[in-house]
Amino acid sequence: MDALAPTPEDRFSFGLWTVGNPGRDPFGEPVRPVSRPTELVAGLARCGAWGVNLHDNDLVPFGASAAERDRIVAEFRRALDDHGMVVPMATTNLFGHPAFKDGAFTANDPAVRALALRKTLDAIDLGVELGARIYVFWGGREGVEAEACRDPRDAVKRMRDALDFLCAYVEHQGYDLRFALEAKPNEPRGDIYFPTTGHMLHFISTLEHEAMVGVNPEVAHETMAGLSFVHGVAQAMEAGKLFHIDLNAQRIGRYDQDLRFGSEDLKQAFCLVRLLEGTLGGARYEGPRHFDAHAYRTEDQEGVWDFAKGCMRTYKLLAQRAAAFDADPEVQELVGSQADEALDPLLAGFSPAKVDALRGLELDADALGRRGLRYERLDQLLVEHLMGARG
Ligand code: GCO
Ligand code: MN
Ligand code: MN
Repeated sequence: MDALAPTPEDRFSFGLWTVGNPGRDPFGEPVRPVSRPTELVAGLARCGAWGVNLHDNDLVPFGASAAERDRIVAEFRRALDDHGMVVPMATTNLFGHPAFKDGAFTANDPAVRALALRKTLDAIDLGVELGARIYVFWGGREGVEAEACRDPRDAVKRMRDALDFLCAYVEHQGYDLRFALEAKPNEPRGDIYFPTTGHMLHFISTLEHEAMVGVNPEVAHETMAGLSFVHGVAQAMEAGKLFHIDLNAQRIGRYDQDLRFGSEDLKQAFCLVRLLEGTLGGARYEGPRHFDAHAYRTEDQEGVWDFAKGCMRTYKLLAQRAAAFDADPEVQELVGSQADEALDPLLAGFSPAKVDALRGLELDADALGRRGLRYERLDQLLVEHLMGARG
């Protein structure tokens, strides 16, 4: 058996909008025909994916009648069952329709906010009906070009009102659903509110139903902001808030590229997989491994499936490499255990006695400053494991 073949335990998922992306960009027309959602489910199942995620309008067109909606959902349900696929996550398209050009939950016009809230209530019902346990909020249009159009503090408050309302709805309905907030610094708006995962984490702590809400960090978004994605994810994990993750690849300083996972900055991808899989110690991330990316515009549908298989294969390769790295005795020696039975207890949990003890310590700053840490060797070992030259 191919050790790199995806299995349901890997929890690999793709959005309908990812493998269904027809390759339209701001400069050019679509290059691929639009596939039906049921065809995408079949294709993903053939590639070995476990789950498929969707925006409401990836499945049910905007403005469809109730009868039409039910027919489409029933047909989709059959395709899921036929192919053994699940819907782990759902979300709302609050960016496509012109009504949302000034934002959705943060728009100045209360009628737009009402439309956004109602659309999300319906989309939550749809997601839950399809079995979703995670509901993502990506505020693509929640931002500005003309900063003067509103007080940005009102945007924060309106977003809080919306999330408090929707959390209470989920609770009222008795749904088993958690929310995951996805940050992005810009694109499609000039500046988007809550631009990073860190901004989201703090905002969550101000919500009424804080425990229900976590984050959905995306490689591309944090990289666009020039930040370490690994650090953002680690902080979310440490806070128990990594509810979902959007995996893709991105070069710093570019437009939102949404590239195949691992196709850029392999070292960061390696460190990310190492963190998620827990090979460096600590808890493993148990949620879906969702690929929010799309194939190059050069590809036909066959190339789209190459892309999807590539995302999953690279993830598994990196997981293997990360396990070998962390099992390497030389790596273990270099990372070493930094634990110190005498010192560590002094460094956490204030007491006046600890202050006295700290003041009484003999600490040789110069000796500490002279010591080489051998991180060059450690990083070279990482590169060699990554390149398959070790392990
Ligand atoms: C983007 C975002 C989206 C969201 C999706 C789910 O940059 O376009 O990443 O792909 O993740 O809308 O909310
Ligand atoms: Mn994105
Ligand atoms: Mn995303």
